[in-house]
Amino acid sequence: MPKCPACAVKNSLQRDKSVTRFYRTESFENGCCPTPPMGWNSWNYFKQNINEKMLLEMAKAIKESGLFDAGYTYLNLDDYWEANSRDRLGKLDADPVRFPQGMKHFVSECNKLGFKVGIYSSNGIQTCQSLPASLGNEYNDALQFASWGIEYLKYDYCYHRVYTKKAPFIFSISFCKKGTDAETVIGAEKAALSGTAKCVFGSCNYNIGSLTGTGKKANYIKGLDGGKGEATFRYVADEEGEYVLTVNPRFRYRSTGMLHTLMAAVIVNQEDPVLIESPKMHRPCSQAPYRFVTKLKKGENIVRIFNPIFNRADSAVLNYMCMSNALTEAVEKTGAKPIAYSLCEWGRNKPWEWGDKCANLWRTTGDIIWFWFRIRQIYDKNVTLYKYASPGHWNDPDMLEVGNGKLTLAENKSHFTLWCMMAAPLLMGNDIVNMKKEHLDILTNKKLIAIDQDALGKQAKRIVKGAVDVLVRPLADGGIALCAFNKSRLKKKYCFDLNTLLDEEYVKEYTAAEYDAEDLWTGEKQTTNKLVATLEPHGIAVWKLIKK
Ligand code: GLA
Repeated sequence: MPKCPACAVKNSLQRDKSVTRFYRTESFENGCCPTPPMGWNSWNYFKQNINEKMLLEMAKAIKESGLFDAGYTYLNLDDYWEANSRDRLGKLDADPVRFPQGMKHFVSECNKLGFKVGIYSSNGIQTCQSLPASLGNEYNDALQFASWGIEYLKYDYCYHRVYTKKAPFIFSISFCKKGTDAETVIGAEKAALSGTAKCVFGSCNYNIGSLTGTGKKANYIKGLDGGKGEATFRYVADEEGEYVLTVNPRFRYRSTGMLHTLMAAVIVNQEDPVLIESPKMHRPCSQAPYRFVTKLKKGENIVRIFNPIFNRADSAVLNYMCMSNALTEAVEKTGAKPIAYSLCEWGRNKPWEWGDKCANLWRTTGDIIWFWFRIRQIYDKNVTLYKYASPGHWNDPDMLEVGNGKLTLAENKSHFTLWCMMAAPLLMGNDIVNMKKEHLDILTNKKLIAIDQDALGKQAKRIVKGAVDVLVRPLADGGIALCAFNKSRLKKKYCFDLNTLLDEEYVKEYTAAEYDAEDLWTGEKQTTNKLVATLEPHGIAVWKLIKK
């Protein structure tokens, strides 16, 4: 029992933890992105100005410039590839002017050059540019992407929906073997209840007949709202096989002049949730049974019913999970290549805490732009999230702006170095056909790319925060990557004593009495334990340390 009144209030506001983390406990493994994805994306520079011809020119330039060989192998379309309405069968289609030969043709041309193609959609009714998006069509869209040979999906957050916290009342569930109509009904009173869930017998205006009551009175479960209560039904099946599960809910909401909906998740054994939901109405009032076919095992089967939405983040998780499941199923069904799944909800719902359960990478911030202050802001946020990155699951501080806008050479180098240290996806966002040699040299720095792509998959930790930040990153070969980043507008002489690493937990196993240090921009070697560099305004120095 809580000791103080404030604690009692706090407790009552808290979800029942056991009911909310229903969305998988193990991490999502689809074999994609064991190291951060590398490639090119159309948005940062070209925005809406894309078409098949220029995209293929871009792909050729990536090949001819050596960028492809350096590892940039995804060619990712962003918003504006879509036709502005679905076709008559409800399928997403490519814009017929921009992609005159269709998406499949475009993908196959890119594949011929060796690229994997990425595509873009949103978990709302429209994309951020108001084109058709995937909410409610997740599975069909995933099938469409798989059938085109798409290998990467960036999934945005525009026009997303927030699920209601309100749950319907549940009267009973029933099972019958598929192909028969002999039902076994399990009434509300038989369910095990937790949290705020309660079974009541009452007048409910629900003519439930002989199921769990008579006439207009019956047992029903209430209090399943907001992730705070759960009903668990048990059913012993005499044989394994397909069964029809019927859930008898009642959706009711008093009239408030606003649109309302009610929703509950139904989970059979450990399967993915099925949502039962009323349409958005001024006064939802329906009692139609929900029926779906499910596989049961011989012996005891568990059906859990609850509304999982405690806050906006739960709603985002549910939406993003839905596309994750759709992609997995579509790939399984069609035998297509696995599709890397990139969440783009701008860090709104702390995706670093749950992204690894459904995706390969997740944006940690709002959009990048080609101004230094924004790159700094994004770095400041992303650098704090180092603990959440691991092979197959990456923090995404957004695509590269190297070569865009008026960043100085030092800023371009710092941006690229920091992204490599932070194990970020390296998705170039500039015009490759017309790029400057100095930017190409940055993007093809093989030694830094090797840091980004290091198999250990540990994002760098900031160990010194100040006018000059110091970041360290342990590497698979026992080495350490270390950078000194000058955040100030003044040129600085910097000296870092490597003996301080001996006390640093994050790289402790990798530390040594003495190192050879190689500067990854200049190639210079240093053999003393005091690293020295002259740092340009907003500039950076980065070394790889190897034990002597
Ligand atoms: C959002 C995303 C961007 C880009 C645009 C496209 O803003 O965060 O990265 O995809 O949408 O409309």
